[in-house]
Amino acid sequence: MRPDRYKFITCDYNLDGVSVDYSLLEYIQRVLPEGKTILELGSGEGTEQLLKYWEVISVEHDSEYAEKLTNRCIYAPLTEHKAIRNHSGSMQWYDRDILIPELEGLEYDLLLVDGPPKDTRCGIVKYIELFDADVIMVFDDLQRKADRAILNSVAGKLKKPFVTYTYQEGKPFGVINDPCTECGEPK
Ligand SMILES: C[S@@+](CC[C@H](N)C(=O)[O-])C[C@H]1O[C@@H](n2cnc3c(N)ncnc32)[C@H](O)[C@@H]1O
Repeated sequence: MRPDRYKFITCDYNLDGVSVDYSLLEYIQRVLPEGKTILELGSGEGTEQLLKYWEVISVEHDSEYAEKLTNRCIYAPLTEHKAIRNHSGSMQWYDRDILIPELEGLEYDLLLVDGPPKDTRCGIVKYIELFDADVIMVFDDLQRKADRAILNSVAGKLKKPFVTYTYQEGKPFGVINDPCTECGEPK
């Protein structure tokens, strides 16, 4: 699948290294029609790129980043949770007292797991039931061992397979409920 298949995403931006990169944006274009809704965990410069084509609801723990957003934001600071077997790092994740009522009945077509930062992501393993298990789930930052372990655990909990995408340039990412795999389209 060559980048020139993708007509509406142009590489006219310079993301900051923590944001979703071009290959991930390309992937989303491939699987998600324009105008559909993305639920994004973790906002940043990439959010503005997503907003050019899709509706985006951002979950953000940091008030500084939350205030910058022009789209709908669920501001949920991090709070402690119990340790999760096979996962180390910080045991902090978005405040469930805020998240649970906000996510209940929320409709979206793709879940993008790109936050909270670095070693604070394993909470999604514990709280994956809060999310719609049938939407496309994209996990960014699989260059990190901890994030590969998170994808592995979430897929195991949902009893679903996942695929990983690795490009020469850009960060690897993984997908559960990948429509490309299901329709047999080559990666
Ligand atoms: C990996 S970033 C999320 C990036 C976002 N999905 C994007 O594509 O721009 C995870 C968290 O880091 C923080 N963050 C966002 N942009 C940042 C930046 N340029 N430098 C440091 N932290 C950032 C925010 O609190 C965000 O929730």
